[in-house]
Amino acid sequence: MIKARGLEKTYPDGTTALRDIDLTVESGEMVFIRGRSGAGKTTFFRLLVGMEVPTGGALQVNGRVMGPGSSRSLRALRRKMGVIFQDFRLIEGRTALENVELGMRVLGVTGRHMRGRSRDLLERLGLDHRLYTPVESLSWGERQRVAAARALSREPEIVLADEPTGNLDAEATARVMELLYDARARGATVLIATHAADVLAANHERTITLSEGRVVADIPATPDVGRDDHA
Ligand SMILES: Nc1ncnc2c1ncn2[C@@H]1O[C@H](COP(=O)(O)OP(=O)(O)OP(=O)(O)O)[C@@H](O)[C@H]1O
Ligand SMILES: [Mg+2]
Repeated sequence: MIKARGLEKTYPDGTTALRDIDLTVESGEMVFIRGRSGAGKTTFFRLLVGMEVPTGGALQVNGRVMGPGSSRSLRALRRKMGVIFQDFRLIEGRTALENVELGMRVLGVTGRHMRGRSRDLLERLGLDHRLYTPVESLSWGERQRVAAARALSREPEIVLADEPTGNLDAEATARVMELLYDARARGATVLIATHAADVLAANHERTITLSEGRVVADIPATPDVGRDDHA
């Protein structure tokens, strides 16, 4: 569960990116976070992964209080997370397949299972012809799909997808979204930051709107419409 109370983030240069955020996301929920460029979406994700600490209020993720503190409990939390970063954060000099495998290796998954699952995910994302290509030779849309495969290969309890379809065409978008719905079907909590109008229009999940660092709308899911489409 994710719980924010009066959450605030002001960066060292004085920019306040989030203010007075009150939000609860239950385990297993899927939530879209929308908002214009600069609204604070990525900042919220950075706080959730512990890359930045709150400067006001409180944030809890799976019961862990996010803030300065034990790096051991932060590592344990991160093992349960799969993050598709807006800037991908792939490891250059390594192939697409190796990037996905490394994401699992750090969890202690090795061998045939790891290789099979990595390959399977990349193939589902239409990258079967790019398995052995170093990531720096891939297009942006291809890199974004490698980042998605890496995040989801870990079978995470919490998925954070930051503008995961920003560089993708309609078909690749559909494939990435399908994997995100699969993660939800497995019971994962899935947060998706996006301003893609087509992605937002096609979903019937809870949708939170951020504007200048504040929550200005929180629309619940409409359970009877749409869900079956993704079952
Ligand atoms: N490291 C930083 N130092 C200072 N200000 C920052 C930093 N990172 C982000 N900001 C500012 O915080 C605000 C929120 O940025 P953030 O990246 O969270 O927005 P976003 O909603 O993810 O935007 P986008 O849709 O463009 O990705 C912006 O005004 C941005 O300039
Ligand atoms: Mg962002």
